[in-house]
Amino acid sequence: MQQNQAKLYVEREFTVAQADQRLFSSFLEHLGRAIYEGIYEPGHPLADEDGFRTDVLKLVRELGVSHVRYPGGNFLSGYNWRDGIGPKEKRPTRLDLAWHTIESNQFGIDEFVDWCKKAGTSVMGAVNMGTGTPKDAGELVEYCNFPGGTALSDLRIENGHKDPHNIKLWCIGNEMDGDWQICHLDAVDYGKKALEAAKIMKWVDPELELVVCGSASTLQKTYPEWDRVVLEHTYEQVDYLSLHRYYENFDNDLDFLASFADMEDFIHTIVSTCDYVKALKRSKKKMMLSFDEWNIWYQRNTTPHDWMPAPPVLEDHYSVLDALAFAGLGMTLLNHADRVKIACLAQLVNVIAPIFTEKNGRVIRQSIYYPFQLLSRYGSAGTVLKPVCISPKAETQYGDVPVLHTSAVYDPQQGTVTVFALNIGKEPMELTLSLGSFGKVSMEQWICLKNENLHLKNTFASPEATAPVSMPCISGVFSETQLSVPGISWNVLRFRVQPGIV
Ligand code: AHR
Repeated sequence: MQQNQAKLYVEREFTVAQADQRLFSSFLEHLGRAIYEGIYEPGHPLADEDGFRTDVLKLVRELGVSHVRYPGGNFLSGYNWRDGIGPKEKRPTRLDLAWHTIESNQFGIDEFVDWCKKAGTSVMGAVNMGTGTPKDAGELVEYCNFPGGTALSDLRIENGHKDPHNIKLWCIGNEMDGDWQICHLDAVDYGKKALEAAKIMKWVDPELELVVCGSASTLQKTYPEWDRVVLEHTYEQVDYLSLHRYYENFDNDLDFLASFADMEDFIHTIVSTCDYVKALKRSKKKMMLSFDEWNIWYQRNTTPHDWMPAPPVLEDHYSVLDALAFAGLGMTLLNHADRVKIACLAQLVNVIAPIFTEKNGRVIRQSIYYPFQLLSRYGSAGTVLKPVCISPKAETQYGDVPVLHTSAVYDPQQGTVTVFALNIGKEPMELTLSLGSFGKVSMEQWICLKNENLHLKNTFASPEATAPVSMPCISGVFSETQLSVPGISWNVLRFRVQPGIV
């Protein structure tokens, strides 16, 4: 195969898994301006009766987000959920030791549930395994999900929520392997504590699905031993193991664009670890993965703002290049939809986020908004397929990586096939695309994310500068076609299956 030629086979029978909307979930932490000035800003001209910014709600709805993980993150490990309920004037102001900020507690679990309803998303809850106890975890579940007639469920009713919140998906702590975590534990101690929390939580509500903390990154010294030990303690009581990973550009664009290869390796390792423990336990259960923090994050830019309420921290501004690397990661999650059942873009508003607000002012989409939206729109229904791509390879820090990275989804309801293709090479890739098992198809749409200026970003003055463009479609009906995929670009190729020809 020549350096700029690739062949891609997308076949209806090469199935990976049913597409799952939860792969397109996100995350909101009490951190920086994510909650305050992000989603909640009473007094803003566009705030509704609950103080929720309606301009932000609109962009969240358009983004296509399944679940939103809340309230942290590192914040979780010092958080007492009771501080965030009841009359607002009585809620305590506290030090948040995770981020060295002041927490007013004007927003808590009840407000979050209300916000999620308006945003068209579901809640992914999280219980504190740092300063919190298994008992606190069970009580939070009782407050949220028990219908009534107990002190805690009646308290929820008194606080204005007659119907249970019915939050069925919960994380048991956050990044407990990290020594930065408040009350960080070793794997054995965390495994024991998580097991007891899981038992109590499921006794309160047997319908819960629980996520146990896996490694906070592949860079952790305890990776992947942490994952094995934690699973050995909790395997039968939990449903998912979490993975977290952030990428940034260390001034090598090709390595950065190839980040998806590292994520793929991470997923393979964790799947193997899960399956090892399954064998060890003679279990019939297959452990699934929750990649509940992933994104581009320039961690070296993180500046501390001591003891301020809602300081502007972790406010990365994303370029076209960031969006392309991001798209590659999203595609890798999709390609592993058989094991990765949940994935959360970390985070949603202002803090390393696709949506960015001004205090008392405007809101814009960041460049990473577009690939997430398109992956969610075309990757969350139908069947995820395994594309077979014969592509030239590029030498990167992750080894030899295909220059053309691909994913595909078949939606039989809509009669459409969507192919996602990331070209990390500078040259156009001459692609022969075979869709033989679909009979004849026609091309409906070609959306392309690219720009001569890879460092271009959306700004308030130029809010759509990085938006993807439409490319001319191949005409006619065909089962195989040729197209030229622009250099350093991400592409969404949409095909309509011609009825009755298969
Ligand atoms: O998303 C920002 C932080 O990254 C989260 O609080 C933590 O879980 C991770 O280290």
